[in-house]
Amino acid sequence: MKDEEDKRPSSPVSRLTSTGSLDPVAQVLAQFAEESARGVASRAEFERLKGRFLGREKGLVPGLFARLRELPPPERAAFGSRANAAKREIEQQVARLAEEISRREAENRDRSDAVDVTLPGRAGQIGGLHPVTVVRRRIERIFLRMGYSVADGPEIENDRYNFEALNFPPDHPARDSQDTFFLDRKARSPLLLRTHTSPVQIREMEKRGAPLKIIIPGRVYRNESVDATHAAVFNQVEGLVVDGGISMADLKGTVEEFFGALFGRDTKARFIPTFFPFVEPGVDIAASCIFCKGNGCGKCKGSGWIELAGAGMVHPRVLAGCGIDPEAFTGFAFGLGLDRVALLLYEFPDLRLLLEGDVRFLRQFAREA
Ligand code: DAH
Repeated sequence: MKDEEDKRPSSPVSRLTSTGSLDPVAQVLAQFAEESARGVASRAEFERLKGRFLGREKGLVPGLFARLRELPPPERAAFGSRANAAKREIEQQVARLAEEISRREAENRDRSDAVDVTLPGRAGQIGGLHPVTVVRRRIERIFLRMGYSVADGPEIENDRYNFEALNFPPDHPARDSQDTFFLDRKARSPLLLRTHTSPVQIREMEKRGAPLKIIIPGRVYRNESVDATHAAVFNQVEGLVVDGGISMADLKGTVEEFFGALFGRDTKARFIPTFFPFVEPGVDIAASCIFCKGNGCGKCKGSGWIELAGAGMVHPRVLAGCGIDPEAFTGFAFGLGLDRVALLLYEFPDLRLLLEGDVRFLRQFAREA
């Protein structure tokens, strides 16, 4: 072998050949041809290939030029021009591979960004109204039809609106922390979470005077021990009508119309005298049981009646306290337990379900309006 090779025309390159077969320039070209033919699967692989041949520090191509110094001066020009040609060739190929890798990356990006229109759609989850909201809206519609407007008031009240202006005596048990959540007892008129919607009667009478025909739905708070029929947070709908010549008969007619519209036309209303400081006379109102039509069943504990509201004729002292002349105006008021009504209409067993936010319960009302 050695002899044969020695017979070949001597070239500057062949003299540098260490393997005895190829000169360094041809060797680098051949190596590049082989490695680039395998292709580059990723940008990292491309960078590795590029660095291996063109890298400034240890690249094989710059390595060729480093050898120039080892050559006898007359041979340097020829070797240099061949090395330059090889360098250009490799640089061109590297540029081509760079384009290819960029194009492939762009394609992959397009593919992963693309929407697959053949996949089944993702349906949005449609929420529903809370059962208390459903019932509140039904009640509002009934009263709006009778010419009422809907009013609103704050849930944080002071002693004056929640008790004093409603004629509660100073030592009334509701004014005790056993029954009421106080926020600030030291204030001149202590702040508390309203225990009923009645304070909004006072606010509206002070603000708008008479005549007045409003309902006030809202959340109220009591320091109750919680069980299936008692919650510390619940909802009421207050009603207030003030005008010339309003009587108990108006209250009775209104309640009968309301019960008829909400529970069915065969529903009766029962009034039993009771005491509330802000009305005189005061009554407890019950509806004939919507399950047994008043015959007595488990739901009404055999009585045939279900208690739903307190009501009465607005106390003259309350009217006067709000700047309304009790000689010129009279009024009736009522306060209805909204959660109790929802429980009746939907026949669920426990008031706590209204507060727990369990979607298995709430989802059942999603279709109600
Ligand atoms: N505010 C009373 C309560 O929460 C209910 C009530 C009774 C409201 C009589 C009224 C009324 O407007 O006239 O127990």
